[in-house]
Amino acid sequence: MALSLIKIFFLLLLITPDLDLSLAKKCSFFTPKYEIHVINKLPINTPQLKVHCASKDDEIANKYVAINEDLHWSFCESFTLSTLYFCNFWWGPKNKSITVFDDVLFCIHHGLYENLLHYCKWEVRQDGFYLEMYNTTAGNNTYFMDHDSDWS
Ligand SMILES: *[C@@H]1O[C@H](CO)[C@@H](O)[C@H](O)[C@H]1NC(C)=O
Ligand SMILES: *[C@@H]1O[C@H](CO)[C@@H](O)[C@H](O)[C@H]1NC(C)=O
Ligand SMILES: *[C@@H]1O[C@H](CO)[C@@H](O)[C@H](O)[C@H]1NC(C)=O
Repeated sequence: MALSLIKIFFLLLLITPDLDLSLAKKCSFFTPKYEIHVINKLPINTPQLKVHCASKDDEIANKYVAINEDLHWSFCESFTLSTLYFCNFWWGPKNKSITVFDDVLFCIHHGLYENLLHYCKWEVRQDGFYLEMYNTTAGNNTYFMDHDSDWS
C-alpha cells in the first residue's frame, strides 16, 4: 500500500509542468525505456561494416562494427511517441539508410508483425536487414527474424 502511494507521488511529480529536466531524462511509466541492437551478421572475410545511427537529438555511433558485435543503446520514448532512429550502413561498395525505430509496438511503422518487446533487434546480413518479430500464430514467445529490407 505504502509503495503504491510512493509510486503515485512519483508519477505526479513527473507530470508536474515545471519539472527538472534531469528528472525527465530518466525513463518513467509514461516514457518507457527501449533498447536498439544492431548486430553484424555479415560473412567473414568481407569488407568492414561501418555504421552511423542517430535520432533528431541523439548521436549513437559512427564507427566500424566487427562481425557478431552488437551495437546497442537505449532511450526513453517521448510522451508524443515521436522518437525516430535511423542508421546508415556502409559495406564495401554498398550503402543503405534505414529507420530502426519509430513505433513502440512494431519497432518500425511498416512492420508486418508485432514486436511486443522493449527492444528492437536488428541483424545486418549479406542479403539485407532483419528485425526480430513475434510470431502471433505460433505463440509461446516464438520470435523470428523478419527480412525487412535489402541492401539496395
Ligand atoms: C551509396 O551507393 C550508391 C550506389 O548504390 C552510390 O551512388 C552512392 O554514392 C553511395 N553513397 C554513399 C554515401 O556512399
Ligand atoms: C509462425 O509459426 C508458425 C507455426 O509454428 C509457422 O508455421 C510460421 O511459418 C511462422 N511464421 C513466421 C513468419 O515465421
Ligand atoms: C505452447 O506451449 C504449451 C506448453 O509447452 C503447449 O501445450 C502448447 O501446445 C503450445 N502452443 C502452441 C500454439 O504451440
